[in-house]
Amino acid sequence: MDYDVKDLSLADAGKARIEWADADMPVLASIRERFAAEKPLDGLRVSACLHVTTETANLMRTLKAGGADIVLAASNPLSTQDDVAAALVQHYGISTYAIKGEDTTTYYSHIDSAIAHKPQMTMDDGADVVGRIHAEQPEMLQYIIGGTEETTTGVIRLAAMAADGALKYPIMAVNEAKTKHLFDNRYGTGQSTLDGIIRATNRLIAGRTVVISGYGWCGRGIASRAVGMGASVIVLEVDPLKALEAVMEGYRVMPAVKAAKECDIWITVTGDLNVIDGESFAAMKDGAIICNSGHFNAEINIPRLREMSASEREVRPLVEEFTMPDGRRIYLLADGRLVNLSCAEGHPANVMDMSFANQALAAEYMVINAASLKPGVYDVPEDIDAGIAKLKLATLGVKCDVLTPEQAKYLASWQEGTV
Ligand SMILES: NC(=O)c1ccc[n+]([C@@H]2O[C@H](COP(=O)([O-])OP(=O)(O)OC[C@H]3O[C@@H](n4cnc5c(N)ncnc54)[C@H](O)[C@@H]3O)[C@@H](O)[C@H]2O)c1
Repeated sequence: MDYDVKDLSLADAGKARIEWADADMPVLASIRERFAAEKPLDGLRVSACLHVTTETANLMRTLKAGGADIVLAASNPLSTQDDVAAALVQHYGISTYAIKGEDTTTYYSHIDSAIAHKPQMTMDDGADVVGRIHAEQPEMLQYIIGGTEETTTGVIRLAAMAADGALKYPIMAVNEAKTKHLFDNRYGTGQSTLDGIIRATNRLIAGRTVVISGYGWCGRGIASRAVGMGASVIVLEVDPLKALEAVMEGYRVMPAVKAAKECDIWITVTGDLNVIDGESFAAMKDGAIICNSGHFNAEINIPRLREMSASEREVRPLVEEFTMPDGRRIYLLADGRLVNLSCAEGHPANVMDMSFANQALAAEYMVINAASLKPGVYDVPEDIDAGIAKLKLATLGVKCDVLTPEQAKYLASWQEGTV
């Protein structure tokens, strides 16, 4: 088996952490048990490009239990947990290409190693594998029956490809499942983004002004967690409806340049380009911390920051200090890459339980239905989504009410009125 990981001697430590995460992923574990018995993915070659974390390892174990033949590459140069990568190779027999801190050339060579597997299914977080196959290795398309996509930015890119008629196979948009984005993006990103900032800086959140660019599912999760820790939150938006929601939730909303003057910590989570740019760097107060939790490291204009600054040095691991000619200092975390995965461990297992249950069941759905699906982007079917919610609730030991037949009839009727 081929692989490229940092150090196989880390494998035992990685296995212990993978098992720790697994204990908090009961829905995925129940799918794994069924997959082991039924082998729905028997012999299926899968090329996965995901953040190499303990939770991803448990997804890989699940797909393998279902009979899949997997190669895994990192979906971000800084998000790999090297002990997990080692354990995947040593203890779980999964060919893995991922090293934390790999340069861009290595990052893409690792993706190419996954593509060389001649996948019948792609599993992406950010559409890098799909993009590379379509742009540079179209000869691989002949083997592919379908794929899955994990995140908002990836789904947006695939939808753009589909609209242009460029997408050549069907892909399940796992991000669009309610049991994915309502929980992973909101509570997962909410907690783990602050976790990353705290681990990197050890700064107190209470009493600080936290600026959040983007009030989507991730942004609102981060905002509510930051307020819970005592921060004063300013929301920046370009969508008037989302801005209005933020106002009604009690946050201040203002233009970026105005917020820059007040911000202690600025988090971008938009999926957009140059959200923090020159005008804001010029207005920021001394000591401002800036970071990103959106998919790509394009949200902070780092080249512009570098141009504007007089000097630059690393003051803590993954904390870069930029000193402006007037003496003001701006601190950039994790080179603008996903701060929750670069400086902490990404989302907690309990929330990835639902995201990766969707991945596993979407892969199974694709195997069964690929032949009847045209190239395009597909939602996870409602019954799969609802089934995951039901299972998750049961694993939490929570019961909810069910409609009586009378109520079900009433809610479905149009003849009933005032009595
Ligand atoms: N860190 C993680 O682990 C993690 C997890 C899930 C998603 N993501 C990524 O986070 C990003 C956001 O995901 P989401 O699900 O919240 O998306 P979303 O579409 O729900 O929200 C994005 C918001 O950003 C706003 N926006 C766009 N450009 C802006 C700008 N210039 N200034 C201010 N606001 C702007 C949009 O109006 C929208 O409301 C995506 O890149 C997604 O892939 C990261």
